[in-house]
Amino acid sequence: MAQLWGGRFTKETDQLVYNFNASISFDQKFYGQDIRGSIAHVTMLAKVGVLTNEEKVQIIDGLNGILADIESGKIEITSEYEDIHSFVEANLIDRIGDPGKKLHTGRSRNDQVALDMKLYTRDEIVELKELLKELMETLHGLMKEHTDTFMPGFTHLQKAQPVTLSHHIGAYMEMFKRDYSRLCDIYDRMNYCPLGSGALAGTTYPLDRELTASLLDFSGPTLNSMDSVSDRDYVIELLSALSTIMVHLSRFCEEIIIWNSNEYQFISIDDSYSTGSSIMPQKKNPDIAELVRGKTGRVYASLTAILTTMKGIPLAYNKDMQEDKELTFDSIDTVKGCIKLFNGMMQTMTFHKDNMEASAKNGFTNATDAADYLVNHGVPFRDAHGIVGKLVLLCIDKNIALDDLSLEEYREISPAFEDDIYEAIAMKTCVEKRNTIGAPGEDAMKQVISINEHYLSTLD
Ligand code: ARG
Repeated sequence: MAQLWGGRFTKETDQLVYNFNASISFDQKFYGQDIRGSIAHVTMLAKVGVLTNEEKVQIIDGLNGILADIESGKIEITSEYEDIHSFVEANLIDRIGDPGKKLHTGRSRNDQVALDMKLYTRDEIVELKELLKELMETLHGLMKEHTDTFMPGFTHLQKAQPVTLSHHIGAYMEMFKRDYSRLCDIYDRMNYCPLGSGALAGTTYPLDRELTASLLDFSGPTLNSMDSVSDRDYVIELLSALSTIMVHLSRFCEEIIIWNSNEYQFISIDDSYSTGSSIMPQKKNPDIAELVRGKTGRVYASLTAILTTMKGIPLAYNKDMQEDKELTFDSIDTVKGCIKLFNGMMQTMTFHKDNMEASAKNGFTNATDAADYLVNHGVPFRDAHGIVGKLVLLCIDKNIALDDLSLEEYREISPAFEDDIYEAIAMKTCVEKRNTIGAPGEDAMKQVISINEHYLSTLD
């Protein structure tokens, strides 16, 4: 047990208590951020005259040495330290002696951990944005390729009206665009530096908080020291945004599982993204899509957990907040993994265009268009709806599509039908006529695709 405190204690910490309290097993993940924060702190302490320039140089060299040694595997972060902050400080003192003992001047682990957590979250948001961008680029490519791949659009999982694969994928594109912008918003809102808030009430040293904030690329310092050390809103917001990303991935996975089923056969998931069965030789299962769908639960669980943890915490710092780390780390790692795997699965997937089109045709997805045809020939919509309903019944009876009825059969039910009905209800016509922005018609889709093209080129 190596602790930063102990002066006022007369007994050793019970081992179980030590283990229960320690966070090094997980907060070692942000050793880089911890060292980066310390370097900024020390730079500022020297600037305001709390440390000499020589002490600053010694401490910064020592910290950079620790960073290099951790990264090269020369030193190992061990559980003998309570947390990553203690580990770095103790190591520094071992390396450079007395100047190392000055590192923590004007700082508490409370503002230190608040800083580390923000730096870590910020770095991860940048990575998450990059992964989302890569996924959107894949989807954009598919949208460009499939503006004339017809498929049924569904409501209630019943075939409704024809759309295109481009349009269907475009729906998810919009979701991921919103996810991306949520991450940007969180970054901007959280980007204020808590360092210098001390344990809760600031410090008595003449700290230059503007300087540390700018050294660490924050927009500025936070404005209330009690809030600074106990604010975890950005964790809640991030876990909420990650949960929403998972909603979107999970819904898409659900569709992929359906499309990949023997009954649908709209797509084939590539062998490299599928798994087999230990007993049934014929099986090729969509496990990756199922796992992404499944992992959604643990991300929601983390959001619920952090909301529950935070709800009863009086100001300012309380140890409950140490719980934020495992929840955040696990959710970020889970979501990053899911986006990567999902992207790979989409890039390698085969789309069976003919099956999609046949399914749209055989599902009466052009029934609304047949009714609209009658309306254009002077039949009131409600009557047209009834007429086409009768035609659908006839088709069900004969096990054919609306396109396969003879003109006589059409005219028996309504003389308003002419031989241009076939053209009017052809899949291509049905989609092409829907050309207002946001609809599946090719011109409308091309407009959206060019908006997305520009959008993707502006992402940082
Ligand atoms: N491991 C702690 C956390 O994650 C660091 C802050 C400790 N502060 C304290 N006063 N015990 O929140």
